[in-house]
Amino acid sequence: MTVNYKNFINGEWKEPKSGKYFENRNPADWNGDLIGCFPLSSKEDVNDAVAAAKKAFAKWRLIPAPKRGDVLKLVGDIMVAKKDDIAFEMTREMGKVFAETKGDTQEGIDTAYYAASEGRRLFGHNAPSELPNKMNLSFRMPIGVAGVITPWNFPMAIPTWKIFPALVCGNTVVFKPAQLTPKTAATLVEIIDQAMREVLGKAYIPGVINIVHGAGSVVGDALTSHPDIDLISFTGSTEVGKKLNEIAGRTLKRVSLELGGKNAQIVMDDANQELALDAVLWGAFGTTGQRCTATSRLILHEKIYDEFIDKLIKRASSLKLGYGNEKGVDVGPCVSESQRKTVHGYVEIGLKEDKAVKVLGGDFAADGDLSKGWFYKPTIFIEVNRNMRIAREEIFGPVLSVLKASSLEEAIDILNDTPYGLSSSIFTQDVNKAFVAVRDIKAGITYINGATIGAEAHMPFGGVKETGNGHREGGWTVYEFFTEWKAVYIDYSGKLQRAQIDNY
Ligand code: UN1
Repeated sequence: MTVNYKNFINGEWKEPKSGKYFENRNPADWNGDLIGCFPLSSKEDVNDAVAAAKKAFAKWRLIPAPKRGDVLKLVGDIMVAKKDDIAFEMTREMGKVFAETKGDTQEGIDTAYYAASEGRRLFGHNAPSELPNKMNLSFRMPIGVAGVITPWNFPMAIPTWKIFPALVCGNTVVFKPAQLTPKTAATLVEIIDQAMREVLGKAYIPGVINIVHGAGSVVGDALTSHPDIDLISFTGSTEVGKKLNEIAGRTLKRVSLELGGKNAQIVMDDANQELALDAVLWGAFGTTGQRCTATSRLILHEKIYDEFIDKLIKRASSLKLGYGNEKGVDVGPCVSESQRKTVHGYVEIGLKEDKAVKVLGGDFAADGDLSKGWFYKPTIFIEVNRNMRIAREEIFGPVLSVLKASSLEEAIDILNDTPYGLSSSIFTQDVNKAFVAVRDIKAGITYINGATIGAEAHMPFGGVKETGNGHREGGWTVYEFFTEWKAVYIDYSGKLQRAQIDNY
């Protein structure tokens, strides 16, 4: 029997007011595995959730931050206990392989423990006063209700990057997850609520965390334009991010955007080629290429170009496609039929418009059981130049474009020549070249002798140019976004002291 899941609003699981639902299916077995039905919510459900979150904020902000941290500590502990189940269900709903969904869950656990300990820091600054017998302090204050809108490719990690810091800082949350991964999102909310109830006991506050499922064009838009939402944290496409920023700007919301990428790995002629090969296979075809940080361009030094491509084709053709919960599978399906269509559309552009040379893949994978899902063959184009669309536009699938460079300067210039700037990587044994790359690559993240994927939860995460709007998630940096500063002056002189006047 099909399970109908619910929204979580004001501490209760509630049916959507619309009475409508959408299906969640396994992308590796589309017709054979219906996971459940989730609310296709309306604006009214969003209004209820925002009202609950606003009411809850009045109380939650007064819970001492270390106690809020204790909630996150327990969230982390529960996630540890459920890690394998969460990962199994995540693979089932979005396709990436079990080892990767375990990694995704681990990233959430790391974020929970970081947030838990931040409850005992949330450091402010103090500064000397320019007047005698006066003290200047500044504190991080919670802001209010955060609207959290997340994608399907990291269904656990990305929501935790936003929700955990938001909560520990004293904000309340209305969470709108991607329609392709509602189950992982619902599990996360269940865990947070369980921890809230256990840690707070009688002081439990309904409405601190709320989830409203549904379409971006309804639920996302309602959140973004709602006058009682103070913050929006969004990860998704650059196109949607720009639109959302425009709408949110009308009510002066603070907005954090993590958007597209067109990440490149450079391999210099002095590189350890086997290592560089391992990295590009992992970066380009891991998560079926569906990461913002995926390696979608490979820039090879001309001296090793032919040799490296031969090895790459050999290695990439032996990757095993399949259902990610089965042993020995390297690459899962695309997340949906429409995503696979987009990927194939780019392959056609690569062939017809760009006139690049395809040396591997380029089509649906449909042998045997693969015909049940949205599988796409790992695909490699060579003879790509920087002006081609497959070298400039985000594809979000298992497609790698290979370009050639004759020097470090040219390689970096090609790498920088896209509208995006999220992740980047260079393989070289020459320390001088590595440091030039760190200095000159325009990206939020640069790896030396590592793949473009695999950022750690306690480091700043985000990018430059059209990848975002300057904020960073992860580590200590995300705490800048979820708090605002209060400056406090304490005058214990017993008289009126006029700054800038009495002292000069
Ligand atoms: C994303 O693709 O949006 O660095 C996030 C990585 C992961 C997170 C990716 N830790 O690849």
